[in-house]
Amino acid sequence: APIYAPDLSQCGDATVPLKKSPGTNVSVHCCPPISTNIIDFKPPEFTKIRSRPAAHLVDAEYVEKFQEAIKRMKALDEKDPRNFTQQAKVHCAYCNSAYEQMGFPSQDLQIHNSWLFFPFHRLYLYFYERILGKLIGDPDFALPFWNWDSPKGMTIPAIYADSTSSVYDAKRNASHQPPVLVDLDYSSDKNLSKEEMIKANLCVMYRQMVKGSKTKTLFHGKEYRMGYAPDPGAGTIENGIHLSVHKWVGDPTQPLKEDMGNFYSAGYDPLFYAHHANLDRMWNLWKTKLPKQNTDFTDADWLDSSFLFYDENANLVRVRVRDCIDSKNLGYDYQSVNIPWLESKP
Ligand code: C2O
Repeated sequence: APIYAPDLSQCGDATVPLKKSPGTNVSVHCCPPISTNIIDFKPPEFTKIRSRPAAHLVDAEYVEKFQEAIKRMKALDEKDPRNFTQQAKVHCAYCNSAYEQMGFPSQDLQIHNSWLFFPFHRLYLYFYERILGKLIGDPDFALPFWNWDSPKGMTIPAIYADSTSSVYDAKRNASHQPPVLVDLDYSSDKNLSKEEMIKANLCVMYRQMVKGSKTKTLFHGKEYRMGYAPDPGAGTIENGIHLSVHKWVGDPTQPLKEDMGNFYSAGYDPLFYAHHANLDRMWNLWKTKLPKQNTDFTDADWLDSSFLFYDENANLVRVRVRDCIDSKNLGYDYQSVNIPWLESKP
C-alpha cells in the first residue's frame, strides 16, 4: 500500500539526532496547526505556464516582488499556517519523525531517502509559491531557482546574500559568501582555483545526472511503502549534490549546522527553496534533456502516496504523487538556460 498523508492530530515532537554524541536526540516542536476540513487537491487553472527564473538572472522588478512576498509571509500571524515559520516547520515535521505512518503507527514517516523525495519537495514548493503569489496578489508569481549547475550560478545568488533583504539568512557559512563557488561534492573546503572548481562541479553534475541516474530507482530513490522502515535508500542526486549543497551552506559555528545544514532547520533559510527548485528542475531535465529518455515509476503505491499541505487560502489539501509528476499540470516550468554539464563527460 502507499504511504498515506499523516493524521495531523497525531503529530508529536520531532527528533534531531546529535552527530557529536550518537544515540542522543534533541526534540523540537514543529507540528502544524490542525484542521479537520481536508480537501482533495485539484490542479490549478491557469492561462499561461509560470516560468521559474534562474536566481542570478532576475531583474530588479522581480527581486522587489519576491522580497516583498517573503516579507509578507514573515508578517503573517504566527498561527497562520502560511506564515514563514509555519512553512519552515512543514519540512521539519515530515523529516524528523514527527509523524507516524498511517495504518502503521510503529513506523515513522520520513520523506527523505526514498522515492518520495522528488514529489514531496515539488509539492512543498508548489504550495509555498502559491502562498507567496497570493500575498502579493500575483497568481503568476514563480519561485527562483539556484542555478548551481551553471558556472555563473555557482555562488550563493546575490539576492540571497544581501543582508538587508528579506531572503537573507545570517545562519550560513560565513566563508562561503559570494564570490566563493559552491562545491557540489562537498565534505570539507578544497583548495581549488575558480576554473578547477567549475570544471569539477560540471563533472559531478554529469556523473550524478547522466551516469549515476540511469534507472528510476537510481534517480528517485528506493521504494517506500506502508509498513516499510523509513530511509530505504536515497537516489544519486538526493544523496550527492543535494546534501553537499545543504552542508556547504549551513553555518558550521551553529550547534546543529543551522539553518541549511540540518533538515529540521533548513526551511528557515529562504535559499532552501531556491536550492530545491533547482533539484526539482533536475527532475524535469532527467525526463526531457538527457541522452536516455527517462520515465517515472508507474507503481500505484508511488503514484498514490499522499501528503498534506496548507494552500494559499489556508485550506488543508491532500495531494498525491500522481498530481505532480508533470510540473506543467501544476502550472509551472523552468526558464530554459544552458546545460553545460551535458558535455562534461569526465
Ligand atoms: Cu527535504 Cu533538501 O531536504
